[in-house]
Amino acid sequence: MLARAASVHTVSSYTALEELATVAADLRLSDPTIESVVSYTEYSQLGATYISSMLGLISEPIRHIAARDKRLMKHFVSSAGVPTAPFRSVPDPSNLIEVRAIAAEINFPAVLKPAAGSGTEHTSKVHDVEELCEAAERFQSAPGLDSRKLILEEFIEGDEFHVDAAWDGESASFFLVSQYYVPRLATISDDAPGDPGVVDGSRVLSREDHTALYEELMTMNKAVNGALKIDRAVTHMEVFRTRDGKWVFSEIATRIGGAWIPQLLSQAIGQDIWAVAADSLLNGRIVVEPRPSAPHLAGVHLRPTKPGTITSLPSEADFAETPGMLDYRVIRAVGDNVQMESASEYCVFAVIGADTAEQLEDRVLTANRRLRVETASAPAVD
Ligand SMILES: Nc1ncnc2c1ncn2[C@@H]1O[C@H](COP(=O)(O)OP(=O)(O)OP(=O)(O)O)[C@@H](O)[C@H]1O
Ligand SMILES: [Mg+2]
Repeated sequence: MLARAASVHTVSSYTALEELATVAADLRLSDPTIESVVSYTEYSQLGATYISSMLGLISEPIRHIAARDKRLMKHFVSSAGVPTAPFRSVPDPSNLIEVRAIAAEINFPAVLKPAAGSGTEHTSKVHDVEELCEAAERFQSAPGLDSRKLILEEFIEGDEFHVDAAWDGESASFFLVSQYYVPRLATISDDAPGDPGVVDGSRVLSREDHTALYEELMTMNKAVNGALKIDRAVTHMEVFRTRDGKWVFSEIATRIGGAWIPQLLSQAIGQDIWAVAADSLLNGRIVVEPRPSAPHLAGVHLRPTKPGTITSLPSEADFAETPGMLDYRVIRAVGDNVQMESASEYCVFAVIGADTAEQLEDRVLTANRRLRVETASAPAVD
């Protein structure tokens, strides 16, 4: 792709303001008619927003920041009438007096997480103010994080879904709803780490079998897009369905979903999702007629049952012998260390297809049981 570009500029980091500003200057000097800035990854979003605003391409950059900052996101989305979890901003987790005061305004259990995080990293379910203070203190010492701004949200009990689409205004070139087997955070909870009975993955819900659900979530996605001024973009929205059947917006990202989701979407629409995304971002109103590889599809993350050093991974033959296997990706190698402290410490992805919903569930459980990532704990050091 870069070989086809008119010019290529490299920056040392997506947050290097001076470098981004001089790229904006270069672009303005070479072509005053630039139409849009496209960003593919979570951590390039703010840099892209910065260049877009420097070039005068967007009118309300703060709405684009809201696609990264979950506090601002929930503020705009709930103001537009879409239900979200009640939340409070925790601007300084080191100030425990302030944290306690904020806790008094929210019901427990609650979730404490980075305002602009991703991958369920540094995300904790807390049951009372003491657990909240412990999580806030833990966050203070978490390495590798720049922003220390957090959000505290009331915990929403229910099922979790992801909604993936490519938009040009009100029209979507594709729109797919999938359900996580278990909520993302529950995959790393104390009672589920590596439990081979717990499937870490999601299955696509077909539009034919779930017409009303598709309509409700299409309406929600359009309202969210309006609230955040999302116009021509690829989106990955996450929502909860409560026990009494109500939809609650969780978050949206203006990029393709992570983990197994790109592979799952490619099988669900029958084309490479990255090429479809590029086409729809560049050319706008295209319609992709989904041609799914199988009537029922699921994407799963295959992970070890315990942390340690990887001693064996499924072989090509193992994948080939697994019923319904459509695509897979091995991310780790033997000898790598897996700590299993985060939901996004990924090992192996697989996409599985089937003719019926029952067959799919059967095949997913078989794959989860058979395709093992084995680990050995490091010997204790005296
Ligand atoms: N208010 C909430 N109620 C219930 N569960 C929640 C809540 N907030 C977060 N979670 C759980 O934590 C996970 C991670 O939170 P969230 O999606 O907000 O952050 P993220 O780190 O950006 O996610 P991603 O893994 O999609 O990058 C969610 O997928 C969900 O399972
Ligand atoms: Mg999320």
